[in-house]
Amino acid sequence: MRILVTGGLGFIGSHTVVELANQNHEIIIVDNLYNSKIEVLESLEKITGKKFKFYQYDIADKTKVESIFSENKIDAVIHFAGYKAVGESVQKPLMYYSNNLRSTLNLLEVMKEHGVNKLIFSSSATVYGDQGVRKYTEDMGRGTTTNPYGTTKAMIEKILEDVYTADNSWNITILRYFNPVGAHESGLIGDNPNGIPNNLMPYVMRVASGKLECLSVFGNDYQTVDGTGVRDYIHVVDLAKGHVKAIENAPDGLNVYNLGSGKGISVLELVNCFEQINGVKVNYKIVGRRPGDVAENYADPTKAWNELGWKTEKTLEDICKDAWNFEKNN
Ligand code: NAD
Ligand code: UFG
Repeated sequence: MRILVTGGLGFIGSHTVVELANQNHEIIIVDNLYNSKIEVLESLEKITGKKFKFYQYDIADKTKVESIFSENKIDAVIHFAGYKAVGESVQKPLMYYSNNLRSTLNLLEVMKEHGVNKLIFSSSATVYGDQGVRKYTEDMGRGTTTNPYGTTKAMIEKILEDVYTADNSWNITILRYFNPVGAHESGLIGDNPNGIPNNLMPYVMRVASGKLECLSVFGNDYQTVDGTGVRDYIHVVDLAKGHVKAIENAPDGLNVYNLGSGKGISVLELVNCFEQINGVKVNYKIVGRRPGDVAENYADPTKAWNELGWKTEKTLEDICKDAWNFEKNN
């Protein structure tokens, strides 16, 4: 298939490009480098031994999207491009609504004009909100989102449902990711957020490498295995393979899948594993809970296994080893 990958130089997009290329799909990448670097393109070519057509365009500009579709015969789109920082979205809601919604609407309109009906969309477990349960299945529906970033995901899911209701010829797959972490085993691509990271794994890596002093563990008084927050951490390579399975195996129509391991891991379990497997120290201190955090959530990934033939293969040890390998390389 000839696949347009938006945001293809970002964290998840770049790993997905590798897995798509491994299955001999032809890939066109568009990314405006807002949160990525052009060097990732060289890394992708090094890892796969292939060259990729690349557009450095902002897809919130519809004329740019139109030109990509006029120049290329595209079979399917995987749409990663968007802003994703929860805290920043609270400070700059218009920026988030504008970029995430505009880019998706532009894609949908131009796809329709060009008769392209196959789309995979990057959603998030955040759309479930806090439903007072630990394990989430796709049929639970969306809950209340707690920040503009999460609301853009919920709004886009609703837009996609309405588009499909109006025209059943669309094939739309919504993938709800749990907590993507880790890096490619080559150490050439991975997660490299600008500034001080908000998420646990990049923070752990910066502490282990001495770039930051100490990890704050947000609360040890939750009703969990050791009192710290529990999440479903998924290796980004497993996640990337989920996109290949989705593009190849998803049934026709509109379908939603959780992409997670189905296993909950606590903050201290992750920190301990990271220390042990890599032989490094991660200084941490326990501080108060972070507002908005839930005690525990993880995916029920059964539907993705039954319908896509996908499940995670990598372990927490693989996640910690590959993340640290990338950090050392960079
Ligand atoms: P990322 O920021 O690393 O990648 C997104 C890429 O999109 C970046 O390279 C950025 O430069 C590009 N981009 C942003 N706006 C653009 C625009 N208007 N035009 C062209 N390019 C644009 O993020 P990621 O972690 O790879 O996430 C990919 C997708 O998955 C996002 O939609 C994100 O919201 C979603 N998601 C991520 C997580 C996570 O924890 N990483 C969890 C759930 C969902
Ligand atoms: N945590 C710490 N210290 C830190 C950072 C995080 O103790 O410095 C803890 C949190 O309290 C939580 C766990 O580590 O218990 C994971 O926190 P992250 O910030 O890494 O991830 P979240 O589960 O809070 O959120 C992530 C993404 C959201 C997405 C959500 C569900 O940031 O965008 O997963 O997919 F919506």
